[in-house]
Formats: sequence, C-alpha cells, structure tokens
Amino acid sequence: MRRKTVFAILSLLALAPIITQAAGPTAAALAFTCAGCHGTDGSSVGPSSPSIAQMDPEVFIDAMQAYKGDQSHSTIMNRIAKGYSDEQIKGMAWFFAKQKLRLQPQQHDPQLARLGAELHDKYCEKCHEDGGRPGDAGTLAGQWMPYLEYAMADYIAGKRPYPRKMQRKVDAAIKDQGDKATSALIHYYGSQH
Ligand code: HEC
Ligand code: HEC
Repeated sequence: MRRKTVFAILSLLALAPIITQAAGPTAAALAFTCAGCHGTDGSSVGPSSPSIAQMDPEVFIDAMQAYKGDQSHSTIMNRIAKGYSDEQIKGMAWFFAKQKLRLQPQQHDPQLARLGAELHDKYCEKCHEDGGRPGDAGTLAGQWMPYLEYAMADYIAGKRPYPRKMQRKVDAAIKDQGDKATSALIHYYGSQH
C-alpha cells in the first residue's frame, strides 16, 4: 500500500514536466515572436506597426480574432494571427497589457493638433478617455501617426468594422471640419508623448 502511494507520487512528479510542456511556451516566449515589429515589450519603433504595450486585453483579443477571421483589413496580421490558439492569444493579451507603454516624440503640426484636440473632446473623448490614453477603446494618444492614418482610412473605406456608435461620431467630426478632421485628430494624438 505504502509502496503504491510512493510510486503514485513519483509517477506524478515524473509527469509534471510533460504536463507543463504540453501547455506550450509561455506568453512571454510567444510574445518574443512579435518583437521584430511591435518592439520587445510592445512599444514599437514605428511607424506602421502600432504599439501594443498596455493595450486593453479585451481590445487585444478582439483585434486578434478579427484578423484571424479575416474580418479586419490587414497587411500582415491576418496571416500571423492564424498561427495562434485562442488560449495563446489570451496569454499574450495579458502579457502585453502589463507592459508599460513608452512613447516617442513625433513630428506634428501644432496648429492642426490644437484643432484635433477640440474635435477629440467633442466627438471622441467619451469613449477614448483621457485624450485617448490606453483604455477599453484601445490606444490613440502617442500611437504612431502612420498607423492611425491606415486605421482611420480602413474604417472610412469600410474595410474595418466600426465599433458600435463610433461611425456616427467620425462622420460628425468630418461634417464639422471636412477633410481636415482626420488629419487634425491624428496630429493631436501624435502630439502626445
Ligand atoms: C511583420 C511585422 C509584425 C509582426 C511580426 C507582428 N505584428 Fe502585429 N501588427 C503589425 C501591423 C503592420 C499591424 C497593423 C495591421 C496590419 O497591417 O496587419 C499590427 C497590428 C497588431 C495588433 C492590433 C493593434 C491595434 O491597435 O489594434 C495587435 C493586437 C497585434 N498586431 C499583435 C501582434 C502579436 C501578438 C504578434 C506576435 C504574435 C504580432 N502582432 C506580430 C505588424 C506585425
Ligand atoms: C462610442 C464609442 C467610441 C467613440 C465615440 C469613438 N470611438 Fe474610436 N474606438 C472605439 C472602440 C471600442 C475601439 C476599439 C475597437 C476597435 O479597434 O475597433 C475604437 C478604436 C479606434 C481606433 C483604432 C485604434 C487602433 O489601435 O487600431 C481609432 C483610430 C479610433 N477609434 C478613432 C476614433 C476617433 C478619431 C473618434 C472621434 C471622432 C472615435 N474613435 C470615437 C469606440 C469609440
């Protein structure tokens, strides 16, 4: 009886490394494969790969699932996202959420940025709180401007599904300031670091 118990414990111990191995590489190890474009800790060196450090995990997971299902226009992420299971995506979402976002100064037009700040307060702040800092509607403040250009162009062209109620506000901002509206908003976000 006693020998049996010892044997059971020993075989469990022997199994332990196999169990952990079956769980696959850690989220940190997985995230390393993203470093070439998104930086080693999610703060990308730009300009068209967005920073994903401190990103809200739910927004992260939604973005990855949209790429995986070809529901969001993308240059590369649709191919990359397909290589990861739902569990692995969840793990990486939490890994990046815990990384501190480091922003770099970007060239921007101060006058356009001022107009953008007004438009942001009027049409975007309700969901993109605190000037668009990381939150449950993603990250706009300090995000790379070329990336934001693509993102806005994709929404407006209907290549990326709008989050609920955002379209009305983007349309209203464009109605307010015409073609200048999106570039003013982007210069405002780019002015933050
Ligand atoms: C070859 C460069 C490259 C690699 C490698 C890469 N990405 Fe991306 N990532 C991009 C680009 C570019 C975009 C913008 C969408 C597009 O054009 O595909 C993006 C967008 C994203 C977004 C959406 C960000 C947002 O603000 O909506 C997430 C999340 C993301 N990547 C996660 C990852 C993860 C996780 C990995 C590693 C498993 C990874 N990426 C590897 C280039 C890359
Ligand atoms: C009703 C809420 C709401 C309003 C208002 C809103 N947004 Fe959003 N926005 C969201 C949510 C939620 C997301 C994240 C989901 C997604 O990526 O589609 C998002 C994502 C974005 C993104 C993509 C970020 C990324 O990392 O790819 C951009 C750019 C953006 N919004 C710009 C704006 C601008 C500019 C305005 C104002 C004219 C605005 N939004 C108003 C809810 C809103």
